[in-house]
Amino acid sequence: MTLDFSLQIFPFELSLSKPGQPFDKHRANGANGQTRLMATALRALWLVFGVLCSSAGADTRTSGHVYLSPQLQALQNDPQRNPVALWQERGQGLWQAQCVSCHGSMDSVKGSVASFPRLSADGKTLVNLEDQILRCQQRGAAPASTPVQATAPSSTAGAAALESDSVLSLSAALHQAAKGERIQVALSVTASADHTAQWQARLSSGERLYQTRIGRMNLACMHCHDGKVGTQMRADTISQAHPTGFPIYRMAWQTLGSLDRRLRACYSGVQAPIPSAGSADLRDLELFLKVRANGMVLDGPSIRR
Ligand code: HEC
Ligand code: HEC
Repeated sequence: MTLDFSLQIFPFELSLSKPGQPFDKHRANGANGQTRLMATALRALWLVFGVLCSSAGADTRTSGHVYLSPQLQALQNDPQRNPVALWQERGQGLWQAQCVSCHGSMDSVKGSVASFPRLSADGKTLVNLEDQILRCQQRGAAPASTPVQATAPSSTAGAAALESDSVLSLSAALHQAAKGERIQVALSVTASADHTAQWQARLSSGERLYQTRIGRMNLACMHCHDGKVGTQMRADTISQAHPTGFPIYRMAWQTLGSLDRRLRACYSGVQAPIPSAGSADLRDLELFLKVRANGMVLDGPSIRR
C-alpha cells in the first residue's frame, strides 16, 4: 500500500485503483506502445481524479459497526440501556468542571477530534486525543506556581492515567460531539522539514508494524484485518480494523476502553509481548490506521462484544 502525502484525504481509494498496473502491461508490448502508454497514463490519471471526486464510489471500507450482532445493535440504539450514555454524561460534567475555563463550549474543539493523532509542538512525539485530554487535565490541575510538566504516557503512572475514568469519559463525550465528522489526519501544509520527516517516519513505522508477523500465532495485523475480514474467530467476526467507533464499551471488558487498549488486546490475542499503554508503537499504529481510514465518518462511541 502506498500512502501519498499530498493526497492524504483518500489515500485508500488511490491504492485500490492501482494506477501502476496498466503501465507495466503496455511496457511489455514494446516500443509501439508509446502513444498507448500516454493514453493509458491519462486514463489512469483521470481514474484517480474520478475516484477522488466521488469518494463514495469505490470505497469498500466499512466500520466495525457492520458486524455487531442484532442484540448489541439494539443495545447501542437504546439510549435508556446503552452503558456508554453514562460515560458521556460524566464527560460532559467533567468538561464543565475542568475544561470550560480555557476552551469554552465543547463545540469549539469538536472539529479537532477527527484530526488526532498529531505531532506534538516540538515534533518529537505523536499525541492522540486521550494524550491531549490528559495533558490538558494536568495543565488545568497544576497550581499556578508549578511549571506544567505532563506525565510521559509511557511511564506507569501515565499509562494508568490514560485509562482513567475521567480521560475515557471526556473522550466519549468529545467523540459523541464529533460524531459524523470525517477522519482527517494529515500533516499541516505549513509543517517544517523536520516535522515532515518525523511524520513520514512515524507513518512508515505504523505501516511496518501493521505488516509484521508477531506472537506465538506468528500473524500480522493485516493477516486478520485484510486477509480474513468477515470470518469468525471465536465468537467475533473479523472487521477491517478501521478506528471509527472508538472509544468502545466492550462487553468482555465490562467497561469503556480506548483504541490503545483494543490494540493491546490484539497483541494479547496473538500471544505477543504487549506494548505498554501510550507507547510509541501504539501511536504509530494509530496514525497508520487513521490515515488508512481518512475520509471515513466517526461513528463512535460504540458497543463491542
Ligand atoms: C489551562 C488551559 C487549558 C485547560 C484547563 C484545558 N485545555 Fe485543552 N488546550 C489548551 C491549549 C493551550 C491547547 C493547545 C494545544 C496544546 O498546547 O496542547 C489545548 C488543546 C486542546 C484540544 C485540541 C483542540 C484543537 O482545536 O486543536 C483538545 C481536544 C483539548 N485541549 C481538550 C481539553 C480537555 C478535555 C480539557 C479538560 C480536561 C482541557 N482541554 C482543558 C489549554 C487548556
Ligand atoms: C488473529 C487475528 C487478529 C490479529 C493478528 C489482529 N487482530 Fe485486531 N482484532 C481481531 C478480532 C477478532 C477483533 C474483534 C472483532 C473486530 O472488530 O475485528 C479485532 C479488533 C480490532 C480492532 C477494533 C475494530 C472495531 O471496530 O472495534 C482494531 C482497530 C484492530 N483489531 C487492530 C489490530 C491491529 C493494529 C493489529 C496488529 C497489531 C491487529 N488488530 C491484529 C483479530 C486480530
